[in-house]
Parts: sequence; structure tokens; C-alpha cells
Amino acid sequence: MTLQDKVTIITGASAGIGQEIARRLAKEQTRLVLAARSEDKLQALSEELSATGCQTLVVRTDVSDPNDLSELVDKTIAHFGRIDILVNNAGVESFRHFEQTETEDILQTIETNLTGSIMLARFVIPQMLKQKAGVIINMASTAGKHCPAFASVYGATKAGLIGFTQGLRGEYLSEGISATAICPGFTTSGGVYERIVSATGKKTSVALGGTSTAAVANAVVKAIRNGPPELIVNWPPVRPAIVLKEIFPRLGEMLATAVSKKFVKRAADAAAKGEPGT
Ligand SMILES: NC(=O)c1ccc[n+]([C@@H]2O[C@H](COP(=O)([O-])OP(=O)(O)OC[C@H]3O[C@@H](n4cnc5c(N)ncnc54)[C@H](OP(=O)(O)O)[C@@H]3O)[C@@H](O)[C@H]2O)c1
Repeated sequence: MTLQDKVTIITGASAGIGQEIARRLAKEQTRLVLAARSEDKLQALSEELSATGCQTLVVRTDVSDPNDLSELVDKTIAHFGRIDILVNNAGVESFRHFEQTETEDILQTIETNLTGSIMLARFVIPQMLKQKAGVIINMASTAGKHCPAFASVYGATKAGLIGFTQGLRGEYLSEGISATAICPGFTTSGGVYERIVSATGKKTSVALGGTSTAAVANAVVKAIRNGPPELIVNWPPVRPAIVLKEIFPRLGEMLATAVSKKFVKRAADAAAKGEPGT
């Protein structure tokens, strides 16, 4: 599938992985709708990409507000006349002791990561059905395959996105609309994990591996072209561990805890002390 001139909405395009996806798709000469709350950062990215010949539209959007999402779709169709690809990337992530997590934080995580993605797909799909074609990319996480300690709400939203993607495929593949869940591991060179590492001075264990924003952006392009159900982006590959967990759940849980708990607990403890960046 050639991506040239495809109209693509990217949420969370103002930072980290979303910004990298926008730069990668600009190289494919897609037309980009950049959405997030930080309009100044979106404008700066738009200027950078426009200088390379990419057509962009900036729409300030809070994905937790269904009215903003409906407007984002209306403005995209008014400007470009169609929507070919939706990248539901906006998300918030933090490691917290669950019993100390405020109601507002729990709701914000669910509304941003899960409800926002579901509602935006709901507003986009009628247009894709008219076109008899479309691609929806949902940015999940390896945390949606096995939720780490101190990230239970975040992991729940990512597991929800994986389930949502499966349901969309069952319903719409026959209508020409595909959906893919992308599951990155801890991501370096930008994004929320990098900020937590800077704040705590500690990385995850070597055994857990990880990925980069560039690898995630490449996975998005691959998913748009090939339409797989799910792509896990991590080195070393974690799918064998996930298969092991399906067969031996308690053993899988012990391994996951052994490789991740030290880092996530440190991040949650730093957040409990109010350390900036956590
Ligand atoms: N970094 C990792 O290690 C990692 C691993 C697996 C999955 N992921 C997932 O990848 C996605 C991007 O993460 P990242 O690491 O790039 O995070 P990031 O650097 O913190 O960027 C998050 C993006 O989401 C946007 N956003 C947050 N709340 C929003 C809201 N209410 N409305 C609209 N936009 C909102 C932010 O823009 P504004 O603040 O301007 O609105 C920003 O552009 C997330 O879904 C995350 O869960 C990340």
C-alpha cells in the first residue's frame, strides 16, 4: 500500500512517540492531521514538516473530550475531504502505588488512553465505511499483554485497547477497514519512559530489553501497509514469554515480576515523594 497523500490523524503528535510517527509518515508523503492539547508544539512540528513538503493540519484536541474528537473528525473532512488512517497514540502513563492514586488520575488515564481512542474510532469509522477503506492503529503496550506492578490502571487501558482492536477487526475487516494494536516495550529516545529514567536515574533490567521511538514509528508504517492484528515492538522478542505465560500463568507472572518490579517500584516511590518528572 502506498502511503502517499493518505490522510492520517495522529493523536498525541506533540511529543515522544507521536512526534516520531509524524516525522516517519511525513517521509512517506502522507497528509497529516496533528492532534494534541499543546498547540504550540503542534505548530512547531507542522512548520518543520511543511518545510519538507508535507501537508499538515493542526487541531488542538483533548482526547478525553468527545466534543473535541467529533470536531477533529469534522475539521479533517472539511480540510482534506477524507480520512484514510487513524493513529490513536495519545496516552498518559505513570507508576503509582494503587492505594495512593487519586480518583482524578484514574479517570484521566482511562479517559485519555481508552475511552478517547474508542470514541475517536467511533467518529472516524462512518467516514471509512463510506470510503470502503481505512486503517486504525491503536497504540497499546506490552503492559497490555502483562500488566506490571504499580501500573494496574495503565495496563488495564492497554489490555482494553488490545481487546477493542480485536473486536474492530472482527467487525470491519470484511468492509476494508483494518485495525492493529502496537505493543511497544519501554521506549528510549523520547517519550514517558525516558522522562522517568531521567527523573529516577535508573533504567529497567537488561533482561526486559526495550525499543526506540524510531522502531515504534517503523512498526506503525509496517502495520498500515500489512494490517496485522498486533505488533509487539521490543528487543529481545517477548512473545515467547507471553506464550509461556499462557501455558504456565504462575511461572509467567514470576518471571515478569522478577524483570520489572524493581524499576516500577522505584518509579512509584519517587512519585509518592513528589519527585519531578515521575
Ligand atoms: N514511552 C514508552 O515507553 C511507551 C511504551 C509503550 C507504549 N507507550 C504508549 O505510546 C503512546 C505515546 O507515549 P509517549 O511515551 O510518546 O508519551 P509522551 O511523550 O508523554 O507523549 C504523550 C502524548 O499524548 C498527548 N496527550 C496526553 N494526554 C492527552 C489528551 N488528554 N488529549 C490529547 N493528547 C494528549 C500528549 O500531548 P499534550 O500533552 O500536548 O496533549 C503527547 O503528545 C502512549 O499511548 C503510551 O502509553 C509508550
